[in-house]
Amino acid sequence: MFIKSSLIIRRAPLRTLTNNLSPRKINTAAIFQSLDPSTELKTTSQSISFEQDYHIRSSLEKIIHRYATKPYQKITLNKLVQYGGTNLSDEEIISAANETLLNLKILNAKRLIHIRSLPYMVVLNPHISLSYSLYLRSMREILSTPPVLTVADALEFVKVCEDFLDKHADAIPRLSKGFTEIIGKYYPKADSFKFLDIHLRERIIMKLTAQHFIFLMNPPTATNIGVLDSNLNINQLVKQQADFVNELCNMKYMKNCQLEIETNNYYTSKDTNNNDSLIVERNKDIYFPFIYENLEYCILELLKNSFRAHIENDVPYENKIKVIINKYIDEDANVPILQIRISDQGGGIDPETQQQMYDFSFTTVKSEDDSDVYDSQNNRSVAGMGYGLGLSKTYCQIFDGSLHVESYYGYGTDVYIKLKGPSLSYAN
Ligand SMILES: Nc1ncnc2c1ncn2[C@@H]1O[C@H](COP(=O)(O)OP(=O)(O)OP(=O)(O)O)[C@@H](O)[C@H]1O
Ligand SMILES: [Mg+2]
Repeated sequence: MFIKSSLIIRRAPLRTLTNNLSPRKINTAAIFQSLDPSTELKTTSQSISFEQDYHIRSSLEKIIHRYATKPYQKITLNKLVQYGGTNLSDEEIISAANETLLNLKILNAKRLIHIRSLPYMVVLNPHISLSYSLYLRSMREILSTPPVLTVADALEFVKVCEDFLDKHADAIPRLSKGFTEIIGKYYPKADSFKFLDIHLRERIIMKLTAQHFIFLMNPPTATNIGVLDSNLNINQLVKQQADFVNELCNMKYMKNCQLEIETNNYYTSKDTNNNDSLIVERNKDIYFPFIYENLEYCILELLKNSFRAHIENDVPYENKIKVIINKYIDEDANVPILQIRISDQGGGIDPETQQQMYDFSFTTVKSEDDSDVYDSQNNRSVAGMGYGLGLSKTYCQIFDGSLHVESYYGYGTDVYIKLKGPSLSYAN
């Protein structure tokens, strides 16, 4: 389940290097600061020679490159359930912490190298440059985090993970703002999408990695195994998101929409002759093992799109947006499957928009109307960044699920989500 601790418990490489290279005490923070384009370049030559500075910088580069080329441990739902509940042994906690630390180093280093692969004109953009600086700062922090040897160290490491998440909380609006300014002007559209696709996917994995360890140590609910909620109430999640979207719509349009939820739970049961028969349980709560944050993002974004379409196209209030939630077992793969269909009557998506709707930064919101769009702190915008559909698809695909859109221009849109849960062979 974990990487053997002998492989990952090692001295912090940054310290080793600086200790070897300099007879005097070297200010590593100053070196990272000098690599950071967002801060004023302060020369380290006041305390160390040019040659020493050069050696340290190139050694740091080597460290970053070394981590960036390593494969990271993939997070899979099957792996998550194997943690087997909240009662982790001390050994398991320490091992999970060191695995998380190593994965964060690798994923963060990959982001740095990836941003640096962009053309100079692109990296000069202040929002993209700030994103790079934040990755550099978090690289500094995780490289100087000592290996976790005790449970007390693991509790300290939770704070490192929380700080890591805080630092990157605004990453998507920031990057989105930067790319909106350069796409097509300084960097071709296709290259921008390719970059964002990889970057955002690995950023989600990085966020999940840190969040998973925080939740392993402090589960948010009794049914959580790290980030995986083994008994997530799906219709409750949909209702909560619909209420939230209605609040946003009331603020923006002074209008709201009605939602209708239908649920079908399919399972087999023995009949009186001891034969398997398929039962459909309708309109009861559906519980499914999944990651709350991932599904919450998708449902929120898809409902925002449908509510916006209804309100902006003056669809009568009586016409409800319909959500159908189906759960069944894929007997061959032995996994539970969740299907969610969101159907609206908001006029559909025109063919030209359909060609681009998954493209990052593509939106039909007029730019003068986008004052709240990048306000991730308040999360008040209904639409406008052009990331909702594309990122929702990425969120579904990360755990082997799918998202696709069927739109009937002039009538409405159906969005289909299919998610696979962890294998039932791991269930108790
Ligand atoms: N259900 C829908 N009905 C009509 N048009 C839709 C629907 N869903 C998506 N679209 C169209 O696809 C475009 C892209 O959607 P997407 O969610 O990616 O971005 P957005 O809603 O403009 O901004 P945000 O990043 O805030 O979600 C939208 O601007 C809209 O024109
Ligand atoms: Mg949207």
